[in-house]
Amino acid sequence: MIRDSILSIIFIIEGGAECLIGEFMNSNSMTILITGSAKGLGFNLTKFFLEKGHTVLSLIKSGNKNLSDLQQKYKNQHFIFICDVGNEQTIIDAYEIIREKITSIDILINNAAVHLESHRPDLPEIDFSVYIPTFTVNALGPLMVVTSFLPLVRAGTGKLIVNISSEAGSIGNSTRKSEFSYCMSKAALNMASKILQNRVAKEGIKVLAIHPGWFSSDMGGPLAPISPRAAAGNVGSIILKKWSLKDPVYIDADGRKIAW
Ligand SMILES: NC(=O)c1ccc[n+]([C@@H]2O[C@H](COP(=O)([O-])OP(=O)(O)OC[C@H]3O[C@@H](n4cnc5c(N)ncnc54)[C@H](OP(=O)(O)O)[C@@H]3O)[C@@H](O)[C@H]2O)c1
Repeated sequence: MIRDSILSIIFIIEGGAECLIGEFMNSNSMTILITGSAKGLGFNLTKFFLEKGHTVLSLIKSGNKNLSDLQQKYKNQHFIFICDVGNEQTIIDAYEIIREKITSIDILINNAAVHLESHRPDLPEIDFSVYIPTFTVNALGPLMVVTSFLPLVRAGTGKLIVNISSEAGSIGNSTRKSEFSYCMSKAALNMASKILQNRVAKEGIKVLAIHPGWFSSDMGGPLAPISPRAAAGNVGSIILKKWSLKDPVYIDADGRKIAW
C-alpha cells in the first residue's frame, strides 16, 4: 500500500499504562496487523515485515523484553497493543484505539493460538476444561478479530486476511489419535476461513489459512526441524505473494493446497 499519512499511535505497555510514542510520516509501506506476536512465529513474522520496511501493529496478551527491544529498534514502524484474542471486549477496545490512529490495514494476520494438550493425553485422561478455552482462542478469536477489524481491512489496498492454521486441522489428512482440542479448533478455524472467504470475496478480500510447518517454539517444542525465524521467512514470503481469489484457502508454507 502506498500511503502518506501522519500517524500518532498509543503504545500500551504491559499493565495498561499508556504513553504517546509520537507521530511519523509513513510512505512506502504496508500496514500489517499480527496477533500473538510476543514470541514464536508471531514475533519472527513481526521482525520479518519490519525488516522489509512495513508497519506492524502487534496485538499481544502480554509483553516481554525481546518485543520491547524490537519496538525500540523500529520506533516509527512498530506499535504494540494489549489484546487477548479470547476476549471480545479487549479486541473491540484495541480496534477503537487503532481506528482513531490509522485509516486502513493491508494484511491482517491471526497468529495467536494455544495448544493446551501438548502432552497428548489419551482418551481416559482428557481434561475437557481446556477445550472451551482452546476453541475460544484458536477458532473464535480469529473470527472476532476479523469481525472488529474488517472495516480497516476493507479500506486497505492489500486486502488479505491470513489465519495461521495447522496441518493438524486437516480432516482429510488426519492420522493423530489424540490432541482432539487443538486439531478440532484448527479444523473449526479452517471452516471459519472458508466461510469468510465466501463472504468477503465480493469485496476483493483474499483469505488464507496457512500451515506454517513444524518449527521450534513453546508450542512446537525443541525438536522441530526448523527455527521460528525460518518458518517466518517461509510464511512471510508466501503472504507477500500476489494472491488471487481463485487460489486455494488452505495451504502450506510453500503455497500448496492442503486437503480440508
Ligand atoms: N509451532 C509449530 O510447529 C506450529 C505448527 C503448526 C501451526 N502452528 C501455529 O502457528 C501459530 C504460532 O505458533 P507458535 O508455535 O509461535 O506458538 P507460541 O510460541 O506458543 O506463541 C503463541 C503466541 O500466541 C499468543 N497468545 C496465546 N493466547 C493468546 C490470546 N488469548 N490473546 C493474544 N495472544 C495469545 C501467545 O502469547 P502469550 O505468550 O502472552 O500467551 C504467544 O505470543 C499458532 O497459530 C499455531 O497454532 C505452530
